[in-house]
Amino acid sequence: MLDVVILAAGQGSRMKSDLPKVLHPVGGIPMVQHVINAVDELADRIILVVGHGQADVRQALDGQSLTFVEQTEQLGTGHALAQALPELSPGGTTLMLYGDGPLIERADIEALVAAGREGHYALLTAQLEDPTGYGRVSRENGRPVSVVEQKDATPEQLNIQEINTGLLCAPTDSFARYLPALSSDNAQGEYYVTDCLAMAVAAGQTTQAVVTVNPDSILGANDRVQLAELEGLYQRRERERLMRAGATLIDPARVSIQGQVQTGRDCVIHPDVQFFGQVTLGDRVTLGQGVILTDSTIASDTEIQPYCVLQRARVEQGADIGPFARLRPGAVMEAGSKAGNFVEIKNATLKAGAKANHLSYVGDATVGERANLGAGTITCNYDGANKSHTEIGADAFVGSNSALVAPVRLAPGVTVGAGSTITRDVEQGLGLTRAKQIEIPGYRRPTKD
Ligand code: UD1
Ligand code: MG
Repeated sequence: MLDVVILAAGQGSRMKSDLPKVLHPVGGIPMVQHVINAVDELADRIILVVGHGQADVRQALDGQSLTFVEQTEQLGTGHALAQALPELSPGGTTLMLYGDGPLIERADIEALVAAGREGHYALLTAQLEDPTGYGRVSRENGRPVSVVEQKDATPEQLNIQEINTGLLCAPTDSFARYLPALSSDNAQGEYYVTDCLAMAVAAGQTTQAVVTVNPDSILGANDRVQLAELEGLYQRRERERLMRAGATLIDPARVSIQGQVQTGRDCVIHPDVQFFGQVTLGDRVTLGQGVILTDSTIASDTEIQPYCVLQRARVEQGADIGPFARLRPGAVMEAGSKAGNFVEIKNATLKAGAKANHLSYVGDATVGERANLGAGTITCNYDGANKSHTEIGADAFVGSNSALVAPVRLAPGVTVGAGSTITRDVEQGLGLTRAKQIEIPGYRRPTKD
């Protein structure tokens, strides 16, 4: 039985924010959510210790199987963990982490949990060039024996470069024994969970320090400068993940990933592409410069040319989009369909092979297979009160600069003459509302008085 306790009660006053610190996003995902994701598969139970801004924290994490424990006063990390004691399963193992450390590595967590399950009192440590601010780890005969906080350390202890990351794992029964015995007799007047280490040594329990595989991964964010550093590290990690999955990033530093992105093989991602939310790319997808994708799915062999904006859109195989196209929620582009420059599609389906190549608005519409919408075709879907649907049959051809006033239907194969305003269904042949062309011989232009 592995119980995971995530401390998330602190205020994070240096963030100068109304948002609780653990909800500040890294890569578009709240920091505490990253921590939850990192332990989700290992944990039998996840317990969050909440305090400051707890209503927001509970709401942001709603719908996940989490147990919340309240710490009404922030009296220190030992006090925080003690609040979770009644929820822990006797005889099991407890892992403690911080809600503001979003970059933690799974390998570290696994090593720490393995040590805890073997009965050790185990902590995750890091070797830092500059250990300032962290608790220092003292070892004897290779085993960690105490953690001393910066504010309580002797000058000699301040020279130690091995620091306490804060992550801990031990048999639950040892926490049940040590936590109630903590005192707050120290420089900060807090109950330090770190004092449990010395208690473990005194009780004859074996202790173990697991040194992190990646010192960057243990960083937390205390202010927005550090938050930006975490963001930078996270972006680098995510870009590398995409590259390892088979995507070419032409200039990796100029791709931003805010959310959960999956890419296939041989995708090519040009500079200034931004991802938000859940985005999935198939194989051989090319994203041109400045493409912005939010909560969208792009199937294989699709090219999205520069400066397109897609939100909640679904694009099927071999579609061709842009440059400068906008796909709004509910846009569906079926296989081989085309949306060219300055085309906006909303809640509409372009069926296989359908085309809107230039300057169109296609909203609340179905465009049949191979139908062609000429430049400037507009579906007039809104009468000021209600939205109505436009149905365009397969192989229909709509001449340029036509307005289709919904609700309206074009039967399969019909033609609409350029410049028409279509208010009634077109059942067959040619629909045309254009005024007749006249010619005035000898016409004179006005001249200035
Ligand atoms: C702690 C460790 C220190 C370690 C450092 C790593 C202690 C005494 N010290 O120090 O050895 O090097 O982390 O970053 O544990 N929290 C609560 N309730 C509280 C106090 C804290 O939920 O009453 C939460 C905070 O929100 C934060 C985490 O616990 O997420 C760490 O607390 P913080 O005050 O930042 O501890 P440090 O002084 O940095
Ligand atoms: Mg801290």
